[in-house]
Amino acid sequence: MNTQIISISDPAKQTAELARAAEILRAGGLVAFPTETVYGLGGNGTDDGAAKKIYAAKGRPSDNPLIIHIAAPEDADRYAVVNNTYRRLASAFMPGPLTVILPRREIIPRSVTGGLDTVAVRCPSHPVAHALIALAGIPIAAPSANLSGKPSPTCAAHVIADLSGRVDMILDGGDCEIGLESTIVKVEGDDEITLLRPGGITYDALCMVIPNVHIAPAVTHALAENERPLSPGMKYRHYAPSTPVVLLAGDSADVTAFLAAEQAAKKCAILCYNEELSLLRPERLFPVGARDDLAAQAQSLFRLLRQADGEGADVIYAHLPPQTGLGLALYNRMIRAAAHTVKEIRHH
Ligand code: TXA
Ligand code: MG
Repeated sequence: MNTQIISISDPAKQTAELARAAEILRAGGLVAFPTETVYGLGGNGTDDGAAKKIYAAKGRPSDNPLIIHIAAPEDADRYAVVNNTYRRLASAFMPGPLTVILPRREIIPRSVTGGLDTVAVRCPSHPVAHALIALAGIPIAAPSANLSGKPSPTCAAHVIADLSGRVDMILDGGDCEIGLESTIVKVEGDDEITLLRPGGITYDALCMVIPNVHIAPAVTHALAENERPLSPGMKYRHYAPSTPVVLLAGDSADVTAFLAAEQAAKKCAILCYNEELSLLRPERLFPVGARDDLAAQAQSLFRLLRQADGEGADVIYAHLPPQTGLGLALYNRMIRAAAHTVKEIRHH
């Protein structure tokens, strides 16, 4: 398949290009597009055939459900059964990096929801995503636009590397602002939700709007062999580079000293803090941002994991993030990339 790659710098002026992309979607084709979180791989969310094409293009198991992307928060009512909890979340956080799981309406085929009776709904704030969904006039089913098992794409180059020849069109809208996938919550009833995947909308922000916010155990912990995840996506080892990733915890000076010693002993790639650049050998170092700048670390994480994995190193070292604020989303992605391998560094 020949993949068209179109750069969209100003969606308001490039309506002809966006109309072509919307036409491809309406005709059952696939279009990758930027969002504020990561790039999505879009298809018609009411079309069984389009869903099958999405799973095939990604190489993704078809029991892992897709998110339905809508142009306006109130459109959710057409595809899902909404309640006051949804309306409260929508008015606080939409458009934006929040996905809400609700009971599914018949118009969304089971192939899209991986056989579930619930559907995930999200209203992205990115102007290109918004314009595309509005022009298409249909709900857009879209997982992240990476091959299954690769980190989510945060720029068009990642999408091109993974999906060129497998989709009809890729819209290049530059770098994604947040860099981690949306926060996913499941509506449990009035005033009660469960956080299934942390993201740009933090636990604290959710608590300001909804009285009861539970955190699914799989957000921070490995599932036991026989445990059933609340979200099918939790059971897959996502975001995992082929080089082993080890997360380091401990006093910052001790961790930096450990890294310097490891650099002398083996071939390591290091996702380091900017403050460490002058303290380590300038070899396979990938600065993630300043130590306290969690937003910069979130934005760069997937790009740097892709780069570090291309170095042919023995190991990728990174810092264990805090579990507070945006740190919880970083923590969740990084412990999965590391298959829960955390090394405590103690002073000696
Ligand atoms: O930021 C994002 O959410 C990006 C952009 C493109 O919008 N999309 C994204 O999609 O990350 P994906 O498919 O890579 O991740 C969606 C996750 C999966 O882990 C899936 O299992 C879960 O959402 N999910 C979808 N529908 C669900 C449902 N009905 N119940 C439970 N989990 C669901
Ligand atoms: Mg994904």
